[in-house]
Amino acid sequence: MFSGMSMAGSIKGSCILLLQALSEWKVARRPPRISMAPADWERSLRDPTAFYAECVRYFHSEAPAEFREHREYFHNVRENRRGYGENAFHTMWYFLLERFRPRNFLEIGVFRGQVISLVRLWARLRGVGCEVWGISPFSSAGDSVSTYRKDIDYYQDTLRNFEHFKLPAPGLLRAYSTDAQALELIGSKQWEMVYIDGNHDYEVARQDWEACSRSLQPGGVIVLDDSGLTTAFRPPIFATKGHPGPSQLAREVDRAKFREVIQVGHNRAFQRLPG
Ligand SMILES: C[S@@+](CC[C@H](N)C(=O)[O-])C[C@H]1O[C@@H](n2cnc3c(N)ncnc32)[C@H](O)[C@@H]1O
Repeated sequence: MFSGMSMAGSIKGSCILLLQALSEWKVARRPPRISMAPADWERSLRDPTAFYAECVRYFHSEAPAEFREHREYFHNVRENRRGYGENAFHTMWYFLLERFRPRNFLEIGVFRGQVISLVRLWARLRGVGCEVWGISPFSSAGDSVSTYRKDIDYYQDTLRNFEHFKLPAPGLLRAYSTDAQALELIGSKQWEMVYIDGNHDYEVARQDWEACSRSLQPGGVIVLDDSGLTTAFRPPIFATKGHPGPSQLAREVDRAKFREVIQVGHNRAFQRLPG
């Protein structure tokens, strides 16, 4: 039974969800005016707010149906949401995967497997091989800005979500990204695409960047989640701008070694330059 407070909280939560959905629907009514062309991506850095709206439109009308179904599965409110993020991020992943076609992919901070399963789904759609790894404690471990539910077996749940889409199981390492085993895995390959979305505190995010950028193939890409606070992005009510730690880290990225290639909301992607 609901207490007075939790009933009020639940009604308020439902109203916010409704307003967010309505606001996104209004944005999505127009057809998108973006493509995967690099010139269009540059717009994301000049005007991240307008570009974000285009990514929302692209998600609703141009992205592969499999991407939309995948997002619906992970974002389903009735299932208490299996994944974080925003619909526009599925557009970002589609653009990045199609352009860079990574043969391996590493995610730090897996939660319930939304992004690594999307990468595998893309590889199946394109009939290409892509080795997928995730490093995460698979527990409710959070940080100074995030808390997670305690009643989920995150490891089994991630595997179940892969099975739902009939995808081959990923490589999963149960560890904190700063543990010796994790550093060993990160250092064991030249990664072609990495997504950093684990602990959002500056010191840890910085260590994740250092370890992953050392093992990134020239031309490879690192996506930093929650790093939009220091940009011109003005989020609509169904989006967020990020957290201080990853945002400070993104500002410090060495532009002599990395080029920012795209920003979609609070996600920013950096490509390692040759040499
Ligand atoms: C925001 S969630 C990731 C969401 C996921 N990327 C997605 O798109 O659905 C952050 C995850 O990182 C995990 N995490 C926390 N500290 C970590 C650390 N030091 N190393 C790796 N993962 C960590 C959390 O337990 C949580 O599962």
